[in-house]
Amino acid sequence: MARAYSTPPDWTIPQAWDAYSPVEHAMWDRLFERQARMLPGRAAPEFIDGLDILRISRPGIPNFDELSERLMKATGWQVVAVPGLVPDRVFFEHLANRRFVAGRFIRTPEQIDYLQEPDVFHDVFGHVPLLANPVFADYMQAYGEGGLRAESLGAIDRLARLYWYTVEFGLVRRGDALKLYGSGIVSSYGESLFALDDPSPNRLGFDLRRVMRTPYRIDAYQQTYFVIDSFEDLLRQTIETDFAPLYAELAASDDIAIDAILPSDAVLTRGTQAHATARSRDA
Ligand code: PHE
Ligand code: FE
Repeated sequence: MARAYSTPPDWTIPQAWDAYSPVEHAMWDRLFERQARMLPGRAAPEFIDGLDILRISRPGIPNFDELSERLMKATGWQVVAVPGLVPDRVFFEHLANRRFVAGRFIRTPEQIDYLQEPDVFHDVFGHVPLLANPVFADYMQAYGEGGLRAESLGAIDRLARLYWYTVEFGLVRRGDALKLYGSGIVSSYGESLFALDDPSPNRLGFDLRRVMRTPYRIDAYQQTYFVIDSFEDLLRQTIETDFAPLYAELAASDDIAIDAILPSDAVLTRGTQAHATARSRDA
């Protein structure tokens, strides 16, 4: 008999933690060890501090209920499981209510260095540590509220660029050094090296308008990274700015080429773009 199954309106499903196999838990441990070893000194100290929240009583893929209990105490956030990508509106609603949606599947050994769809390692290792930081936690909630507003203004694509260049691929300045905080970087061995050390990408000071005019790549390392001064500054700038007039203004302006540097940019690194050039030659 066919089983009637309907996704609930908020798209959440049970994590089914007991169903993970030893091989899947071992994959988490392998990825966790590799990143936890390389990130101190590279990632923002706030991220490293937040990693402790993932060190739950036993090794393996974290149990979302236990994780949520700890996160709730720290910042009032929870982690809920979803089957995969969810509609924008559902995603924003969850964030606005301090719920982070995470995939529950884990990559296979063949996908250890590259996968297109976010798995539980990206979603949990990449995103959850900073949700334990009060300032970043507030930024994520504000982003969710801003998303609901952007939807009604037809500006989701603009706002998505802000998410991409901060939450997913952001760098932060610490003294003279740059540190990683974007989840897409810290959950990737290769990009954790590339984003800081490689001469290819541009590294530019964060500028809200500029970011919302810049397209991004989902299939390769970024060609441009934007560097914030601090999480406090990111939060302040985004909540104090009314995005509605900005969306209206940007609707009339062209996109900026993905690798361009403008005279108005605060340039930290002028990238060679050698990596992207080599890739397009090979393609
Ligand atoms: N201030 C934004 C608006 O007016 C909302 C927002 C806050 C968006 C934080 C992103 C991050 O829509
Ligand atoms: Fe992500």
